[in-house]
Amino acid sequence: METLDCIRTRRSVRKYLDKTVSIHIIGQILEAGRMAPTAGNLQNYKFILVMEKPTKRAIAEACLQQYWMETAPVHIVVVSEPQRARQFYGERGEKLYSVQNCAAIVENMLLAITDRGLGGCWVGAFDNEMMRRAVGIPEYCVPQAVVTTGYADEKPVQPNRFKLWDHVFLKKWDSKISELDISMRQPSTHIAKKTKEAEKILDKHAHKVMNKIKEHAVTVHKKIKKHLDERKRKKEGKDGSGLVEV
Ligand SMILES: Cc1cc2nc3c(=O)[nH]c(=O)nc-3n(C[C@H](O)[C@H](O)[C@H](O)COP(=O)(O)O)c2cc1C
Repeated sequence: METLDCIRTRRSVRKYLDKTVSIHIIGQILEAGRMAPTAGNLQNYKFILVMEKPTKRAIAEACLQQYWMETAPVHIVVVSEPQRARQFYGERGEKLYSVQNCAAIVENMLLAITDRGLGGCWVGAFDNEMMRRAVGIPEYCVPQAVVTTGYADEKPVQPNRFKLWDHVFLKKWDSKISELDISMRQPSTHIAKKTKEAEKILDKHAHKVMNKIKEHAVTVHKKIKKHLDERKRKKEGKDGSGLVEV
């Protein structure tokens, strides 16, 4: 699948068919996670692959009773090892990079899931302690997310997104659209600019209109000339009718 199509068509799927996912595909999904960037290439994470019903139930319970998760044949719990990031990057490594590393991993997995024709969902709402118990995560590690996957039994529509320009600033924070900025703070400059733009458009338009008028004038002129010539010829009896107009 084209990468951008994959990014665009990925949806959170929360209902799955009771159909086994081949170990080959699961391997590809995990591999996509492994290929994600990590700060300093630390790779301070672990995946816990879960396919057994009782454990999936315990995970769904830990995820604030999101029982729809049980319909997914596969759960992948993504766990960070923050201490390793702390050794290299201090608090920033522990608190930020460890989380970001896992986020990149999860998105890579979701894209691989979409690419392979499966559905998936990023689940982040859970009770840490319950999750630890459900899959035996030690104290020095932190559960970051669960990725559910399987063949989709629903086709979710894309939830609304803000427009791109709602998120983009130009050059600096808050300078969203320069014209809007100008119009808010320097109305006269804005009006002058807009007038110039309008003039340009009008100029272009006026040129087009003038050409059309010219074309039309030439046609009318030709018609009148033809008509006058005919009248003249009739008057002189040269139209072959032998009649002379009086
Ligand atoms: C950090 C994070 C946590 C999320 N946690 C949950 C969750 O606990 N349960 C759930 O159903 N969806 C969860 N989602 C999925 C979002 O609800 C979903 O991505 C969003 O509604 C947009 O829909 P889309 O993924 O189809 O574009 C989470 C997504 C992210 C990025």
